[in-house]
Amino acid sequence: MGYNLATMRIAHISDFHYTRLTANPLRLFSKRLMGHVNWLFARKHNFSEEILEPLPTLFQELGVDLVLLGGDLTTTALLEEFEVANRFVKKLKTPWIAIPGNHDTYTYNSHRNRHFYRYFTNKRPSISHPVDFFTLKDHQIEAYRLFDGTWLVALDVSRATNLYSSRGLFSEKQEERLIEILSLIPATDSILLLCHYPFFQNDRWRRNLERGDALQALLENEPRIRLFLHGHTHRRTMADLQPSGLPIVLDSGSCAQLGRASWNLIDINSSGCKVDVYRWLDKWNCIEEQEFTWKR
Ligand SMILES: [Fe+2]
Ligand SMILES: [Fe+2]
Repeated sequence: MGYNLATMRIAHISDFHYTRLTANPLRLFSKRLMGHVNWLFARKHNFSEEILEPLPTLFQELGVDLVLLGGDLTTTALLEEFEVANRFVKKLKTPWIAIPGNHDTYTYNSHRNRHFYRYFTNKRPSISHPVDFFTLKDHQIEAYRLFDGTWLVALDVSRATNLYSSRGLFSEKQEERLIEILSLIPATDSILLLCHYPFFQNDRWRRNLERGDALQALLENEPRIRLFLHGHTHRRTMADLQPSGLPIVLDSGSCAQLGRASWNLIDINSSGCKVDVYRWLDKWNCIEEQEFTWKR
């Protein structure tokens, strides 16, 4: 990505859930039918596209250097949903990096045909470092040098699931690749890990990350990973787990869910970060600030 900064201001937004209904009955012979029924009866009044509209301008006013799009941009991975999500992302004047969530691979067809990546392929640097070889689309993992001594590693743990499941998977292959990427990053550097799912296993089984315990074990052994950024739960949380040998965990919440819409503005430097939590209360307001120091 090639930023030449000593600090960086990042906006982490997730779980947009842009929704469009299809009139094509053939597209409903899938899990999507349940997604549409669910949206019509439960979610339609819970999510707002309007509150997303001010964000591109706000990010510019706030001097955001990079926007992280944390997945679930769509609801049933319909092409029309990707298109409307893509229209929003095109309005961003700020560089961005996107990962898919479980709703972006909602049906077996959308996962098999990699529809997410038709619309959201991150701008990659030309290969000048061994980590540049890996791409989300081909390897389910990507790494970026954000600024001197600080890296971002993004994971795609989404997969198609059956009617009753919204599980992700941190696969053994992905674990091998993450270990390889970590071995290529200097020992004194700091790393931010971006993943749609939390690694801990305290949600309902059908909603959590398979092999999340393997990811947790890796995090316990890797003190360079300072921040673990995720969404998926739609529950905004900040937890400094450094005393337990884990990273600082930031759940951005959903940026579009009315009554609880939130996202995080994160200022990072070489010794820690400051997090401003934004919530929608008739406009986007910073409701909380917290500072963290790297301690591991
Ligand atoms: Fe979500
Ligand atoms: Fe999700």
